[in-house]
Amino acid sequence: DHMEHFIRELPKCEHHVHLEGTLEPELLFQLAERNGVALPDTFPKTVAECHERYSRFKDLQDFLDHYYVGMSVLKHEDDFFELGKAYFHKAHADRCLHSEVFFDPQAHAERGVSIESVTRGLNRACQYATKQLGISTRLIMCLLRHLPPTEGLDTVKQSLTLYEEGLIHGLGLDSSEKPFPPELFTECYSLISSKFPSVGLTAHAGEEGDHSYVQKSLSHLNVTRIDHGVNTKQSEDLIKHVAENEIMLTLCPLSNKKLQVVQDIAELPVDLFLRNGVPFSINSDDPAYFGGYILDNYLAVHDKFNLSLTDWCVISKNSIKGSWCSEDRKKELH
Ligand code: ADE
Ligand code: ZN
Repeated sequence: DHMEHFIRELPKCEHHVHLEGTLEPELLFQLAERNGVALPDTFPKTVAECHERYSRFKDLQDFLDHYYVGMSVLKHEDDFFELGKAYFHKAHADRCLHSEVFFDPQAHAERGVSIESVTRGLNRACQYATKQLGISTRLIMCLLRHLPPTEGLDTVKQSLTLYEEGLIHGLGLDSSEKPFPPELFTECYSLISSKFPSVGLTAHAGEEGDHSYVQKSLSHLNVTRIDHGVNTKQSEDLIKHVAENEIMLTLCPLSNKKLQVVQDIAELPVDLFLRNGVPFSINSDDPAYFGGYILDNYLAVHDKFNLSLTDWCVISKNSIKGSWCSEDRKKELH
């Protein structure tokens, strides 16, 4: 298959991967032992049991309940370095040349792990990726929307020196979507953008929430990108707005299937978005849990949609254009 070969070789940009979601069961159990973390009885006991559990998530919340327990084995700066390093090697193998990675500092703070040690460990992994693997990187801090917005604001305040130092480049919003609409976090976003106008703003929206969550992320949080954004498909006006304003949607096909956002990847609005000039990229979300990294996600789209070479070039160009890297780096990526 010529097309498959082309897709394997295509230079890729990742915009939607949670580093905690790249924690493979092997490393998870190693860290649990090394750090003396006792996992709850309900947690899988072996790598095989993990794979079995990961094959039947009911929805986003069912996954998240597992994800937050899994990451409890991460305790020290070096654990985060090791986690990031392992992910960047996977990305490199998939010909990913630029990667923007999410992390959830609030999910570690509750175990007494400081935002500084998480950020420094991950930033060291980013530097390793650039030096050893030639991957350009961006670190995006996400706020957990299931926690009170006042705690989000505290986290933003604690992170200001890290943004100042240039260790973090973006702000995102993730976790359980529907009960926690985007406008709750208006103040968190405006604080960051008032202090650091060049920091990239994004938010998960329209994964389980309807199109109004996408709309409100744009109007209240001033994001320039939307993570998932699948439900943009519900509104013709929104489709037009997103296309005209070049808002990139970061699609995650394998994730949507595993979390039953769609029953089949063929249901994703890939054709609709291409026909209407909606820019999107293809991403891995939580690859250790969803069974595939960025290339597997590209190949899943290839398998379900008979896209032309021209379509793939549009996807590839849009994913470079929507990246938060320098114009010089974008030229190199082409
Ligand atoms: N955190 C990690 N993966 C996520 C997803 N797909 N949606 C919301 N929050 C997440
Ligand atoms: Zn995500």
